[in-house]
Amino acid sequence: MAHVVLKDLVKTYGSFKAVNDVSLTVNDGEFVALVGPSGCGKTTTLNLVAGLIPITSGEIVIGDRVVNDLDPKDRDIAMVFQNYALYPQKSVYKNLAFPLQMRKLPREAIDKKVRDAARVLDMTELLERKPRELSGGQQQRVALGRALVRDPAVFLMDEPLSNLDAKLRVQMRSEIKRFHQDLKATIIYVTHDQLEAVTMADRMAVMNGGYLQQYDSPAQVFAHPVNMFVASFVGSPAMSLVPLQASTANGNTVLTGAEGWQFELSPHNAQKVASAKTKKVVLGARHSTIKLHKSAVPASVPAKAYTVEPTGDVTFVQALLSGAIVNISVSPNVAVAPDEQIWLEFDQERMHLFDGETEMALKVN
Ligand SMILES: Nc1ncnc2c1ncn2[C@@H]1O[C@H](COP(=O)(O)OP(=O)(O)OP(=O)(O)O)[C@@H](O)[C@H]1O
Ligand SMILES: [Mg+2]
Repeated sequence: MAHVVLKDLVKTYGSFKAVNDVSLTVNDGEFVALVGPSGCGKTTTLNLVAGLIPITSGEIVIGDRVVNDLDPKDRDIAMVFQNYALYPQKSVYKNLAFPLQMRKLPREAIDKKVRDAARVLDMTELLERKPRELSGGQQQRVALGRALVRDPAVFLMDEPLSNLDAKLRVQMRSEIKRFHQDLKATIIYVTHDQLEAVTMADRMAVMNGGYLQQYDSPAQVFAHPVNMFVASFVGSPAMSLVPLQASTANGNTVLTGAEGWQFELSPHNAQKVASAKTKKVVLGARHSTIKLHKSAVPASVPAKAYTVEPTGDVTFVQALLSGAIVNISVSPNVAVAPDEQIWLEFDQERMHLFDGETEMALKVN
């Protein structure tokens, strides 16, 4: 396996920048997810690494080689796509063997590689079937197998699970993760599904509008999102973002909501707010860090319940606060009705604060 380095990677179409100065390193054996909303440049980035489209500027290193000018076939990569692109007339065995025959490997070597891959992916008993005789998940496994037999330096996967139904997707998610662990493979995996990225990847590269926003472990991205985009993109239900005004009185920093209520910040959070460019501050809070009260308690703020969604284990309440919608999770035995007056208590240790102008996370200077 090999490491991959992207340096100042740019791809433009006319005046449009699909990939904007993206730099990142994928370590040898690492599973990296490229994640972001539709159109953010994930597939373009992957195709640049694969060599399927030419780069505008920058550098791509795979292993110890700069591959900018190499053909896809010389880059030592294998791709797995959303549509599996299997040969319908060929058996699974022949689908797996075909890329090796093209490389003119001896018949015994091909047979060994095909059977090894089939064993790794637990599909030995499927080798004689045709693709149409397989389920979606099994076809996806054949597509993985076809990448595997090529023994590439890097696996590139573009939304490989998005054609599968929800249940199968979860199952294949663990299978690909297992595949990565067993092979210690270097994998770059494109998905628009933040949950797939969070659950599978060692590190996730969150993209938006062609820009790399944050590149870190899922735990770090979740705990310390660098800006409001990342904060609201990663995690479900999304982190609530409430626009507020900061002010200082008698040495204390308070945040004021559109309805006029106020609460006082802890010294640590006050220090963060002191670094904001303007008085506009956005409070970010995940559902599990907000307490819902049926009557006012100290440091709580008044809000109005909007929708109530029981899911079984947990009930999600959406509330209106300072012009924003706030997601709160409560135990199913808490009875809340739409339009009911409620009070919310934010955990100061776990709240996020963003600059209302730049949308960047506020830090203690
Ligand atoms: N050949 C092309 N010519 C012009 N614009 C293109 C071309 N290919 C892609 N784009 C644009 O570049 C941007 C990034 O596209 P890309 O396919 O990389 O998005 P993506 O992140 O993979 O999205 P999705 O999740 O929908 O697959 C989009 O705005 C797209 O319209
Ligand atoms: Mg795409």
